[in-house]
Amino acid sequence: MRPVGEHVLIIGAGVVGLGVGWQLLELGHRVSVVERNTAGSGASNAAAGMLAPTAEVTFQEEALLALSQRSRTLYPEFVARLQEVSGHDVDYRTSGTLVVGLDRDDTEALEHLLAYQLHLGLGAERLSGDAARELEPALSPNVHSAIHCPSDHHIDPTGLMGALRAAFLLSGGTLREGEGVQELKVAHQRCTGCVLESGEEVAADAVLVAAGAWTRALGGVERRQLPRIRPVRGQMLSLWMPRAQPLCERVIRAPDAYLVPRSDGRLIIGATMEEMGFDTSQTAGGIFELLRGAWEAMPGIYDLPFERMWTGFRPISLSNEPVLGPSEDIKGLWFATGHGRNGILLTPLTAMELSHAMHTGTIPEVLREFVPR
Ligand code: FAD
Ligand code: GLY
Repeated sequence: MRPVGEHVLIIGAGVVGLGVGWQLLELGHRVSVVERNTAGSGASNAAAGMLAPTAEVTFQEEALLALSQRSRTLYPEFVARLQEVSGHDVDYRTSGTLVVGLDRDDTEALEHLLAYQLHLGLGAERLSGDAARELEPALSPNVHSAIHCPSDHHIDPTGLMGALRAAFLLSGGTLREGEGVQELKVAHQRCTGCVLESGEEVAADAVLVAAGAWTRALGGVERRQLPRIRPVRGQMLSLWMPRAQPLCERVIRAPDAYLVPRSDGRLIIGATMEEMGFDTSQTAGGIFELLRGAWEAMPGIYDLPFERMWTGFRPISLSNEPVLGPSEDIKGLWFATGHGRNGILLTPLTAMELSHAMHTGTIPEVLREFVPR
């Protein structure tokens, strides 16, 4: 495989497209990003922003865990550089996660989770309900047990998006918002650019598809040549906490909802997981379940004023793992998609390692398991 040439065209301005784009600029490339709507308008601005490889560890997903942990480790340095270049604050907080259980069944499930976390060497600690309330006094008296995951962090994804957009532009990148890509231009098994919905052709030395849940809508190639990504809907809502007295400092993961505090006083509550295609509705049932799940863990939300509700589409692959690397059969075509429930967490690793792979033409060990197949 050869290094990509000078001009890289990226399809999609989410955290992945702008993250890789910014890092390619730092490596001396010329980069254009084409975005159908506005930067961040896909999954990225919809996310909760948990950087939680320990609390969110899933049985049998150990390759994804290793990738996530590595990205979590890269976060402080990545954020420091991003804030320096962009001048934007991203509300990066290192206060950890509390996973809480409300009854005996939950406590049993937490025992299994803790055993798995400890087996993997993750920093996690069992707490009684009272010990959990010492850390977070607004937790319900019904909280029966908890796991404290102090090495999990969180960030404001809209702040991260704003900072990436600014860093990309200040580093000399070209961002074309409001312009959709209709199809990839491929001749003799080589990708040479794309055709926009307006009919305009844009030439490039290499193309990176960072189109998230919309990856499979791209034309110009056979469908089997595109990674199998589907949208999984997440409904979310936010409330206002009193600025002087936030309800919690840490991320709280209850059985049926999670709560993520922001420094500006917002409390983000999420999220449903629904196979509904690209239906953007917020439903009574979805919002009701989130409020009930959050209220059971933290009854004090009852009196908080609403900020807003929204929906996002997680780009989920068949294996639940991201797809990162060059196309198997089309030269000059690369993918960075399928980040699923972890795209904010995986942003530093994707941006730094994939840009390096494109620049050098060598796939680093850490990405080998995730190349398109
Ligand atoms: P996107 O942000 O979706 O960007 C893709 C962009 O491509 C879009 O802006 C779209 O308009 C554009 N596009 C698509 N097709 C075209 C085309 N043909 N032409 C031009 N532009 C195109 N992750 C975490 O790590 N922690 C969390 O706490 C977390 N919470 C989440 C909560 C919810 C409710 C959701 C929905 C997601 C959450 N995620 C979380 C996951 C995370 O948001 C995603 O994995 C990540 O944002 C994916 O980024 P992306 O850049 O690949 O995709
Ligand atoms: N990672 C949180 C979510 O996808 O809802």
